Amino acid sequence: MHYIVTPSKASSASVEVPGDKSVSHRALMLGSIANGQTNVTGFLPGEDCLATMAAMRQLGVSIKQPSETEVSIEGAGLHGLQAPGGDLDLGNSGTAMRLMAGLLAAQQFDSVLTGDESLSGRPMGRVIKPLTMMGAAIESDCDGTPPLQISGGLRLHGIRYELPVASAQVKSAILLAGLYARGATEVFEPAVARDHTERMLKSMGVYVYINGNRIGVQGVRRLNACDIRVPADLSSAAFVILAALLSDDADILISNVGINPTRIGVIDILQDMGADIRFERPQLFGSEPVTDIRVRSSRLRGGTVDPGLASLAIDEFPILFVAAAAANGKTVFSGLEELRVKESDRIAAMAAGLQALGIEVEEKPDGAIVHGGRFHGGTVESFGDHRVAMSLAIAGTVAQGEVTVRNVETVATSFPGFEACMASIGTNIEVVEEVPND
Ligand code: S3P
Repeated sequence: MHYIVTPSKASSASVEVPGDKSVSHRALMLGSIANGQTNVTGFLPGEDCLATMAAMRQLGVSIKQPSETEVSIEGAGLHGLQAPGGDLDLGNSGTAMRLMAGLLAAQQFDSVLTGDESLSGRPMGRVIKPLTMMGAAIESDCDGTPPLQISGGLRLHGIRYELPVASAQVKSAILLAGLYARGATEVFEPAVARDHTERMLKSMGVYVYINGNRIGVQGVRRLNACDIRVPADLSSAAFVILAALLSDDADILISNVGINPTRIGVIDILQDMGADIRFERPQLFGSEPVTDIRVRSSRLRGGTVDPGLASLAIDEFPILFVAAAAANGKTVFSGLEELRVKESDRIAAMAAGLQALGIEVEEKPDGAIVHGGRFHGGTVESFGDHRVAMSLAIAGTVAQGEVTVRNVETVATSFPGFEACMASIGTNIEVVEEVPND
């Protein structure tokens, strides 16, 4: 599947974007090991979360999905998961694989975690190392990539671990294993990474010790099921936000978007670039802050993006590169080496895409310098990366000619209905099966 994007600016509208991916994954995993029934609303029915749901069902958990966005989980309890009877295929999802590695390392049975081509090339040594220090036994391919063969029946013990990179996935894997471990488990993060695991654990009655960048849990007896309202995903809202900003006269309201402080780097960066973005009607969905976001078309200016915001905007750099490409002047991005090991090498993928649309980009090992300009039409590659595909599609909406984005299937991992959502604000992103030269 490919996108054909014709120049088409956003106008004024109210929209909803799908549920938060990180919170949806965690609701499934923690709900599965809780005692009692967890009812989830606003669930993201994206392929990544559906892979986690299928895996939890393979582990014997009864999960019903009365509608696309409603899920009800009969918690099996901390020790109620069952041997899966086959490999657990986690598709494209690094979050699913790394968090599940922590959970499964503590079980009484063996398990094997596999993924698609992109996930099969991603580094898992970052979870294998600390989990092994806790007493787990996990084999990967020799270069530290999936599949992961996890041996069960081992008694884990707590560790104190300094994360070499800020990663919520690694932090969460260790904390999940820590729930089953003897003694205390403590992680130290070099920069703040998203804290949805900590918040949800607390909502389920687990004592989570937090002191600055130190986060700890003790082995526990149980988690108490609780209802979870999933906020709309700010990472998905970011595409709508940029489409609105780059239009001439749009005023768009996006409802109930998660603004957990560990996620809002994208808003800070865009506001620094001159974006008119406001929060209206802030409220709490359980332990997660949400708000309606109002965004009005704005002239963006380039600048130097604070590398200290990298972990707070980690998934938004593809769309921020597009913002920089449409801004006045140059924008300097640094401290982004983690982008090279996401669903694709996002620095290289975005540099290639923007260059193909006529933007000058100087690629650096840990970022890029993007020179603001005008997009012309052309054909670009998504490299099988959902966020690269959507980012380049947004660039296409304000390009001077038609833009083809190739191989966009993975958009369904995080933002099912992306094209329809974009159509509802007035942009024209058409899905086609084939493009010339195929
Ligand atoms: C996620 C954490 C981030 C992010 C990913 C989702 C999570 O990865 O890029 O899309 O849900 O924990 P890292 O923690 O590895 O940076």
